[in-house]
Amino acid sequence: MRTKVSFAPLSEIATGLLAILAVDAQTAKGPDDRPQPELLVADPAIQSAASAVLSSGEFKAGANETILLHAPAGLAAKRLLVVGLGKQSKATLHKVRDAAGTAVRFAKPRGIRELALALPANVSERLPNAGTADTSRTMARAAVEGALIGDFDPDTYKSDRKDQSIQAFTLAAPPDADREAVESSVAEGVTIGESQNFARSLVNEPGNKLTPTVLGQRAAEMARQLALACEVHSTEKLRELKMGAFWSVAQGSAEPPALIVLRYEPEGVADSPMLGLVGKGITFDTGGISIKPADNMEKMKYDMAGGAAMLGAMRAIALLKPKVRVVAIVCAAENMPSGTAQKPGDVQTAMPIAEDKPGKTIEIINTDAEGRLVLADGLTYARRLGATHLIDAATLTGAISVALGKATAGVFSNDETAYAKFEDALQVSGERFWRLPLGEEYAELIKSDIGDIKNTGGRYGGASIAAEFLHTFAEETPWIHLDIAGVAWVEEAKPYIARGPSGIAVRTILEWVRRFGLLSSL
Ligand code: BES
Ligand code: MN
Ligand code: ZN
Repeated sequence: MRTKVSFAPLSEIATGLLAILAVDAQTAKGPDDRPQPELLVADPAIQSAASAVLSSGEFKAGANETILLHAPAGLAAKRLLVVGLGKQSKATLHKVRDAAGTAVRFAKPRGIRELALALPANVSERLPNAGTADTSRTMARAAVEGALIGDFDPDTYKSDRKDQSIQAFTLAAPPDADREAVESSVAEGVTIGESQNFARSLVNEPGNKLTPTVLGQRAAEMARQLALACEVHSTEKLRELKMGAFWSVAQGSAEPPALIVLRYEPEGVADSPMLGLVGKGITFDTGGISIKPADNMEKMKYDMAGGAAMLGAMRAIALLKPKVRVVAIVCAAENMPSGTAQKPGDVQTAMPIAEDKPGKTIEIINTDAEGRLVLADGLTYARRLGATHLIDAATLTGAISVALGKATAGVFSNDETAYAKFEDALQVSGERFWRLPLGEEYAELIKSDIGDIKNTGGRYGGASIAAEFLHTFAEETPWIHLDIAGVAWVEEAKPYIARGPSGIAVRTILEWVRRFGLLSSL
């Protein structure tokens, strides 16, 4: 998808489809209150082209509701699509992102390869709750992100695949907008949307195509294109670093593990802070000897979504150049049952935090709790490489879905300052995370009789127990843990996003990183 910006009057934009936004301005409550759809464009030709349908009552401007008009009088566009944002009082920046995706996903199956979307005019007046002061910039960016997210479909292996992707997307900004600001925000939106889609394309790959080695190759290829430093290690390096927890998962598979390390080291930036991004990269999770049931096991190809999120975030970081050092570590392995697989009851020794210290010992209760094992060594390695602040992302527990369902991901943190930056980042990214507790009570549940800790702690509070397991390895280093197991895969298509990999966490991790670099464009 090529993205362009236009500052021409909307009626003059010659396009196959011009999408405009509308809100429901109805405020009163009562039995016969009817929705009051109002367009977010001032152009009189558009107002008059849409007036009949708006007053018909057929279109309520609900969130992502659409109505299409052909050959609208007085417009150069062939079609006019009105996309609803829902109630005016609840219409945020994030609704605009979704609406852009909805317009794109409306066009795709209808053979429309090119479209334009009009940014709302008079934002502060018409969208009083848009959520941020600098609206024309953030809206331009969000709209472009939404269009790119909407353009992604997971059908890459269909032998008769008809590529329905959008060729050209034009963002039509109000003629009086700050042109430079809109143009740079659009460029940023392209980077972020493409980075999220890069993560999604990795998550979409099946386990036979994307082994740990192939994930390492994909990371290296991306790094080379963007001049990021990249190393991909395997079995020998895990031995050398004494990564006994990571290796305990990898040892059951014929596919060698990949320890992927990417570094972003901008010039003229202080050594500290240095951010450590750690991702779970299980390219397929059978559960190992504690094998999973057959139902839905095929979904476990997306057990590397945390690692993919880190690679997507690094891609965006390399392009947007925040003034802060970042190292990303993806621990990629397959969790398989075999004659060489680890067994329940085995005791493993994790990577030590210093050469002269012993590694913590882990009693394996359930080989299916493998994500925390690979992350334990990933977190330690990030600290050994000098990371002062950590963030990890992982499809870690089924328990997180029991707690939060499929719409919201979990976040845990041992540090209020780092967490405050994360909350701030959510305002811009629009992703849904909910903080859950850590605590001594959970840590108690994973004390082992034979060693230091065990890798599961009973039935209740599974997401917090898993987070406490990781806390043992983050220790006092400021750290944020994202459990994305419930949201990494979109189970039901929405008007603005296809069923399949969501690309969750790329945008928020990027924004979190930027808050350490205080980028001038924010
Ligand atoms: N990869 C799974 C978690 C998961 C479940 C991700 C569903 C996506 C969708 C993880 O490795 C796992 O198996 N966790 C176990 C932990 C348990 C054995 C303590 C779980 O949640 O059942
Ligand atoms: Mn598992
Ligand atoms: Zn797993």
